[in-house]
Amino acid sequence: MRYLYLMLVLLAVQLLQGCGDPTKSGRGFTLPEGDVEKGQAAFLELHCNSCHAVVGRADIPHVEDAAITVKLGGKVRIIQNYGQLVTSIINPSHRLAKGYPQAMVQTEGQSLMPNYNSVMTVQQLTDLVAFLQAQYEMDPVIQTRYPRYHYPK
Ligand code: HEC
Repeated sequence: MRYLYLMLVLLAVQLLQGCGDPTKSGRGFTLPEGDVEKGQAAFLELHCNSCHAVVGRADIPHVEDAAITVKLGGKVRIIQNYGQLVTSIINPSHRLAKGYPQAMVQTEGQSLMPNYNSVMTVQQLTDLVAFLQAQYEMDPVIQTRYPRYHYPK
């Protein structure tokens, strides 16, 4: 009985802390608000459209005979939220897209999506996220509210 009680307490602590390493929690992470139009421009400038088609956006040209076609936008299937969207741009190999022929999207467990982290500015990332988010049918982002800091006088 005491053992069961201990297990319940441990479980409650785990739930409170969230799973995994709490120092790596995404809680409190929010990019500033981005600009959808500039995001669309960045999407083309960075040639994201050479591998991605945007669902319902025939006006955004996708290279027809591209070796890779991963669809972005539309009904949420894999990307469920803001955090996952940001992560899939800056760390594409964190979780690989399912439902595509393996050779099209990955090699040796690594995403074929290039790493943009040393060429993309944070502003471009912010705008890209705003643009892509508008293409997905997902729940609205609840921006993290930061408490004001009060300094003693
Ligand atoms: C050379 C091809 C290529 C280019 C260029 C490319 N990507 Fe990708 N991208 C992929 C592949 C392949 C995947 C699927 C594998 C994976 O999940 O990493 C992917 C996945 C994604 C996903 C997650 C999709 C999902 O449903 O899981 C997002 C979002 C994304 N890319 C955004 C971008 C953005 C923004 C750019 C431009 C800055 C870009 N990609 C450029 C190949 C590319």
